[in-house]
Amino acid sequence: MRSPKDFFTPLAVGAPEPLREIPFRPSRMIHFFPSSNEKMRGKVPDMVGKVDVLLANLEDGVPATDKDAARAGLIEVARSVEFGDTQFWTRVNSLDSPWGLDDLTAAVLQAGEALDVIMIPKVEGPEDIHYVDRLLAQLEAKAGLRKPLMVHAILETARGVANVEEICLASPRMQGLSLGPADLAANRRMKTTRVGGGHPDYVVRQDPNPDDVGAPRGTYQQDLWHYTIARMVDACVTAGILPFYGPFGDIADGVACEDQFRNAYLLGCVGAWSLHPSQIDIAKRVFSPRPEDVSHALRVIEAMGDGTGAIMLDGKMEDDASCKQCQVVVQLARDLSARDPELAAAYGF
Ligand code: GLV
Ligand code: MG
Repeated sequence: MRSPKDFFTPLAVGAPEPLREIPFRPSRMIHFFPSSNEKMRGKVPDMVGKVDVLLANLEDGVPATDKDAARAGLIEVARSVEFGDTQFWTRVNSLDSPWGLDDLTAAVLQAGEALDVIMIPKVEGPEDIHYVDRLLAQLEAKAGLRKPLMVHAILETARGVANVEEICLASPRMQGLSLGPADLAANRRMKTTRVGGGHPDYVVRQDPNPDDVGAPRGTYQQDLWHYTIARMVDACVTAGILPFYGPFGDIADGVACEDQFRNAYLLGCVGAWSLHPSQIDIAKRVFSPRPEDVSHALRVIEAMGDGTGAIMLDGKMEDDASCKQCQVVVQLARDLSARDPELAAAYGF
């Protein structure tokens, strides 16, 4: 048994009070850089203000021989870069790895003032979040931090998906979830060999033509990730936290990347990972409402008056529920415009 009030009691003497609400800050792209790489670290100051989130990656993609260098690079960046209103996150190694504990310890004790969110990969159930929750509280107390670090979990195992609601509700630190399609595919024993996106063999086929049963039949490629993204969005909204699509590995295929990001956006995600500078602009374009959608939404809201009842606009029925959808779009446009004058001008705010 646990009283709901205990959720908001710090888990260690001297740790900061848990947050009661997860702040919504523009998070259209979480831009990954390997903090072990000096050249990439050198680019970080220039990226500030150009991306919503910068993430020092310590986990997959960083070779075992560079794990210490990645941790040291995270600390160097945290101490030397002024982040302004760009968020600074890190992805630590998984809790069962030889590096996870050292990563968490270094992140809080030596980079905790600069960090907003710690991303935990391969989260399987609420017990993983409980472990991190207590450990972070102990470390925060030791470091004398005044604001609590938030936790973002990657959904990348079948057990994690089965426990997704419990994971989201496991701690007031939970800030959001990302879909990790690469690890999830491996863990589920899917037979794909790629990082995110669709697969040409995952299709439905047109019915045969009864007059010519041997005639070629068209196929329609289906979305491998629909179920998981939709489930993740519901779990996140239930817990008041934010859902994200993760990586899209085919860097050269900007078109398919944009489609994958847009599917996630339409289903309720607030952003996606960018693994290459070319994906930053894609995420910015996709996760910012289109100006024509914002002006349509404003028209509906205006025409709906107090927001109740039903009206006809351009031959379409609008009511309380469509008005609420329009409010979601306009609110997002306003939130993004607050730190992007170009967007504000495009929306006419
Ligand atoms: C991300 O970490 C993934 O496994 O897709
Ligand atoms: Mg992964």
